[in-house]
Amino acid sequence: MASTAGSTGPANILKSLVIITITHKRLHTFAAPGLGFRICVAGIPIDPVCSVCKDKSFTSSRMHTMEEKDHQNASKYNMRTRMIEGNYGSKHWDYNHHIVPPMSASCAYRLENVHRGAEGFAHFADTEDTQSEPILIYDRLDEPARGMLEEKLACAEGGDFAICFATGMAAISAALGVTTKQGDEIVAHHTLYGCTYSLLANWLPRQGITTTFVDLKDQGALWTSLTGKTRVVYLETPVNPTLDLLDIAAIKQSIVEVNATRPSGHEILLIVDNTFATPFCQRPLALGADLVVHSLTKNIGGFGTDMGGAVVAAAKYQRDLLMYRKDFGGVLSPKSAWPILVYGLPTLATRMVNQQKSAMEVASFLESHPMIEKVIYPGLKSFPQRDLAKRQMFSYDNKFAPGSVVYFVLKGNNEEAQIAAEMLIDDVAKHSRCLTLAVSLGQIRTLIEAPYSMTHASLPDELKSSIGISPGGIRLSLGLEDWRDIIADLSRALSNVDADKHQVQQNFSSEPA
Ligand SMILES: Cc1ncc(COP(=O)(O)O)c(C=O)c1O
Repeated sequence: MASTAGSTGPANILKSLVIITITHKRLHTFAAPGLGFRICVAGIPIDPVCSVCKDKSFTSSRMHTMEEKDHQNASKYNMRTRMIEGNYGSKHWDYNHHIVPPMSASCAYRLENVHRGAEGFAHFADTEDTQSEPILIYDRLDEPARGMLEEKLACAEGGDFAICFATGMAAISAALGVTTKQGDEIVAHHTLYGCTYSLLANWLPRQGITTTFVDLKDQGALWTSLTGKTRVVYLETPVNPTLDLLDIAAIKQSIVEVNATRPSGHEILLIVDNTFATPFCQRPLALGADLVVHSLTKNIGGFGTDMGGAVVAAAKYQRDLLMYRKDFGGVLSPKSAWPILVYGLPTLATRMVNQQKSAMEVASFLESHPMIEKVIYPGLKSFPQRDLAKRQMFSYDNKFAPGSVVYFVLKGNNEEAQIAAEMLIDDVAKHSRCLTLAVSLGQIRTLIEAPYSMTHASLPDELKSSIGISPGGIRLSLGLEDWRDIIADLSRALSNVDADKHQVQQNFSSEPA
């Protein structure tokens, strides 16, 4: 496609004109030193100096239009816009021409010569070099759609980089994998997503990494649980499923005080699972977290079609995470990265605004219902940690953003409440159109489940009871249905449960003694 110096004639002029309209990236490829190509217009070699990369031989000033646009303007735009428009300066793809990023499906990539292949391996995870385009070699190392998603996620969370994994659990495993080693200790909040709890309680101890579970709402408990071997403090906030909040800034302050007494390289790191809040409602890195983990399967993916996970952090953790992902292999598939990049993240803000509105309406309805013992939602005035909620959970435009999950408990002793909760969910599963019995959360459909016997079954019963995961507790993740329909379906189901309970009581009392 490139002409050699000295060629003339209409065909070559046309070819040369085509060349100067293609991107900088391609020109680097075509005009690679040693290939004997030169860029010519009408047979005359042109060697201008590029205004962005200062490289003499590759391009004309027009070719950096989109990159300049990004460099100059990206940070002037609001995050809601940036999550849709993306990064025009992305080196992962020729973004000048595609409005929707192309879906790539190639496990391996064609390389022009061995030198380029060798360069790709040598430069993999080279975090110093932020200017060059990635040299694509093999999907597990780097891939365009995933790369663009990572750029957007880093921007949304305010981190230097994001690395995407096959699932949220793969991301959590990687975050802990690069920050701990044999003999280290982790201090974690006592309530965690069931599989995270199981990872810490059952699997990491096999590698000599132990966890102390404490109530991180209590700063005293944090201080007494830290030892010379503690390397990580790990938490979710809001906590799944009880929606307790943990004060990220206050916990970080304690860690900073302890770290001041430690030699360099032995500092304690704070890892926050931001899945429930999403970056729309809360940015833990700005509050002091060292690493943020996400299940992209939830609100960021948003449509329930793909699993994924991400770690977002400061540049110093990037290389280890890339190497870890390369060697452990839990990489996000490009076919899953693409919908999250194209549909999920760009619509996060819009979905969250609507879901929060529904969560508020439904929580208020439940709070006034005589069959409900308590409703936990950070948006309610009755929420016990309302001050912290307002301080910690706010959107990109500084509006209070309490999230899209509600937790509520039915009345009665544990046994009665559990039966009532099961009856309610089963009724919903059978009759409701706009509530679905399913685990997971953050989808466009409203999902309902019983954490005690489902998502948090791996926690010991005594622990569940002591930390507020009640047998009669129900987790509701609000979707995008009309909130009036959600309330109508819940109201009907509650009436049915009430009627059934009375029927059972009547039958019981009319039985002969
Ligand atoms: C708070 C939280 N973190 C992590 C995960 C794990 O994510 P994944 O299912 O994508 O592995 C979940 C899953 O429900 C979760 O609720």
